[in-house]
Amino acid sequence: MAKVFVLVCLLIASTFADPTSHFLENVFGFPETFYQNAATINNGGPSNGASYVCDAAHLQQSQDAFSSAIGIDGSLNWQNATSLYQAVDTYLSASIDNYLNTCKARKTFYQQMGATYVDCTNPLYLVSQLPAGSDVTPAFAYAAMWAQLDFICNAGLDIGIQSFKDVMAVYGTSQGQQCYTQFLLNAGNDPVNRCTYVDTYIHCIQEAYIAYASNRPNGWWVCERARVGFGMGCLNQRCTVLTT
Ligand SMILES: *[C@@H]1O[C@H](CO)[C@@H](O)[C@H](O)[C@H]1NC(C)=O
Repeated sequence: MAKVFVLVCLLIASTFADPTSHFLENVFGFPETFYQNAATINNGGPSNGASYVCDAAHLQQSQDAFSSAIGIDGSLNWQNATSLYQAVDTYLSASIDNYLNTCKARKTFYQQMGATYVDCTNPLYLVSQLPAGSDVTPAFAYAAMWAQLDFICNAGLDIGIQSFKDVMAVYGTSQGQQCYTQFLLNAGNDPVNRCTYVDTYIHCIQEAYIAYASNRPNGWWVCERARVGFGMGCLNQRCTVLTT
């Protein structure tokens, strides 16, 4: 029984066939309860306090412009964000040029969204737009995608370029794979304590990077990418620059 479970987890974890060919965190493979926790237990709430400020039509237009700028399927939006996420990741991970172009398109998206950016990419807002009882996975994936793009295109841009290959390759190291498999297993079994397992994972993946890559201080970057990707709503999580 336990063996079957591990096998199923491994099969799901391999949604990305080649673990070294993705640049964003693998947010797939968790049971929906994990995403429910991530998408609903969020300490943020609407950015203006009382209600969300997001114009769905404007979001769709801005999303279309982003998708068109990086040449991916223009019909994708937050409702099918798991496909969108993978399409963006595949494009972005192919080359540094694609990475820079994605960041350029992100900047345009961010500027077009203006004051509505924060609420429109808040998983709580997106969940509020879903019919009751819907799968919340797309709301989580959409929020996780923009949160990671924000990091890798701003504070994380220089290191992302400098260590472009290493920040992907860490997922393919045996230590990195162990971190992820454990995370998937623990958080999948006990989604209510998601933040505890996120905390373990973000430091585990940083340690895997330190063990693997020559530029050790850049390991905080992979910690941060995982923190913004998985730790939404988790309080007091930090990534620090470490060399050992
Ligand atoms: C994505 O979802 C939207 C809204 O439901 C739909 O119009 C569009 O066709 C979907 N695209 C794909 C590729 O599934």
